[in-house]
Amino acid sequence: MNPGGVVIWNEVLRGAARELSDAGIDDPMRDARRLLAHSLGIAADRVTLFSSDIAGANEVEGFQGLIRRRALREPVSHIVGSREFYGRQFKVTPDVLDPRPETEHLIEVALEQSFERVLDLGTGSGCILLTLLAERMQSSGIGIDISKAALGVAQDNAVLIGVAKRCELRHSDWFGQLAGRFDLIVSNPPYVTLAEIDDLAPEVRDHEPHIALTPGGDGLDAYRAITAGIIAHLTPGGRLIVEIGPTQGSDVKEMFNAAGLHNIRVAKDLDQRDRVVIGNNPR
Ligand SMILES: C[S@@+](CC[C@H](N)C(=O)[O-])C[C@H]1O[C@@H](n2cnc3c(N)ncnc32)[C@H](O)[C@@H]1O
Repeated sequence: MNPGGVVIWNEVLRGAARELSDAGIDDPMRDARRLLAHSLGIAADRVTLFSSDIAGANEVEGFQGLIRRRALREPVSHIVGSREFYGRQFKVTPDVLDPRPETEHLIEVALEQSFERVLDLGTGSGCILLTLLAERMQSSGIGIDISKAALGVAQDNAVLIGVAKRCELRHSDWFGQLAGRFDLIVSNPPYVTLAEIDDLAPEVRDHEPHIALTPGGDGLDAYRAITAGIIAHLTPGGRLIVEIGPTQGSDVKEMFNAAGLHNIRVAKDLDQRDRVVIGNNPR
């Protein structure tokens, strides 16, 4: 506060960034700016325009409440209720995995070829299925999840993204409640090993659904379930594309091979880490 008792947003912002830094948050100013934008109801790129304005006491209090939540390592997406994925805003709640930038790589690979009927196994927020339907206006699809709460979020997102008429969201344990064939099956299943859970960042470990993070054990059970049912659900020539953890490429590739898929390849993400495994149904 300056001698006249007037507070300007720049000072409030700097104090907030210091608090986040003390809490161990990387890039504290980025998060402080995003939370200030949310608090004031303005676009993030307009925060600079406000920074020399006088801050009202109620507005400062509201903003500092958000900063306290972030300092307790609540994810920004949970505080603001949304996250951008492949250029679109998705609703995010504690019931779904926060859509990750690395999953955009799976989208890029899926869009390399045409498809009409797509199935998303473990749809969560719906970010993969709904993005694919939005990018390919002639396509339709099904998203399944074992979490009914996640399916509710995905349904809201289907309406937000404007593809609700072309998608169905269904409660299912992997292929359990599914019949029929698809020319594209995608999945970003839980793949963290049980041993790795304790080492995750608090934002992930303490705020994201356990069932979205790990299938337990060696982290590969979801790939076992998916590859076991794959041939019965892919059209001839249809593709399976799954996201993987960076060390899982050879194990998952071997499962694709054992399932009878062909043209199997592992694609790397922008950081040159194995990220996606792709295979075709030859029959
Ligand atoms: C890593 S999250 C991916 C969410 C979303 N597809 C994404 O990429 O952000 C995995 C999802 O799989 C779901 N899941 C876990 N076990 C499942 C099962 N046995 N059957 C169906 N879905 C399951 C979780 O509820 C969670 O939504």
